[in-house]
Amino acid sequence: MSSQRFQCDQNTSVLCLTGAGVSAESGIATFRGSSGLWQNHPIEKVASMQGFIEDPNRVWRFYSERRSDAAKVTPNAGHKALAELEKKLGERFLLATQNVDGLHQKAGSQRVLEMHGNLFQTRCSRCTRPAFEDTNVYIDSDLPGCGRCHEKGEFALLRPNIVWFGEALPDDVLERISAFVVAVKRLVFLAVGTSGRVYPAAALVDLAKRVGASTWLVNAEAPENVQRFDHFIEGESGKILPDLFANAIE
Ligand code: OAD
Repeated sequence: MSSQRFQCDQNTSVLCLTGAGVSAESGIATFRGSSGLWQNHPIEKVASMQGFIEDPNRVWRFYSERRSDAAKVTPNAGHKALAELEKKLGERFLLATQNVDGLHQKAGSQRVLEMHGNLFQTRCSRCTRPAFEDTNVYIDSDLPGCGRCHEKGEFALLRPNIVWFGEALPDDVLERISAFVVAVKRLVFLAVGTSGRVYPAAALVDLAKRVGASTWLVNAEAPENVQRFDHFIEGESGKILPDLFANAIE
């Protein structure tokens, strides 16, 4: 662990990237690791368009279970600490999350970019109608079809509004992150609870370094990309973040 303090003066902005580890202490399973979701559910079967085409029931069952799990839990101290930091920094804070559980927003975070979509939204697998709020679960029930396609005499299944492997991120997410990074005077980049295995999220640390950011990682264990960070704090985010931010603002 670095002895240097996490500090933000009036000229400092913070870009935070979060992953599944942040929600682990709320009771949401992470993806990788011994009890991770990808142990029991092959990625390509439930998180790709190919998997959806092959077996949409399996995919909807998987995301329905995720919806049910996420609906039952509440934000933990890590989510809350990030929301508090945002309150203090205002415009000088941006949170890019790979999480789809909505817990950051429940904790009060407002400047949140959801890189991988949102579990409680549904969209059409075919047409470009905007995604809409949806808390329904589809387990052993008829799968939902798109009403708009139906009106045109076409048939298309609805799908979860999740970015699957091989798919592009939502339109403006990377632009907004880049715009934030280039506009700030001094940047601190903080990644929390992420294995750094999925791009482009895993490349944000490099983007931050290119503009001279100081880079921090808070994670339960050292991930493969730990060397790319100036500071690594090993531990659970719910325990580490409140202390890390306690005296961060000058
Ligand atoms: P991973 O499951 O790959 O990594 C979670 C990381 O969090 C691991 O390195 C854990 O050691 C760490 N961790 C676990 N509990 C923690 C805690 N309490 N505090 C801090 N760290 C903790 O999850 P992501 O990196 O988020 O994409 O995965 C990235 C993407 O891969 C996900 O968004 C998902 C997945 O496939 C899609 O589904 C599109």
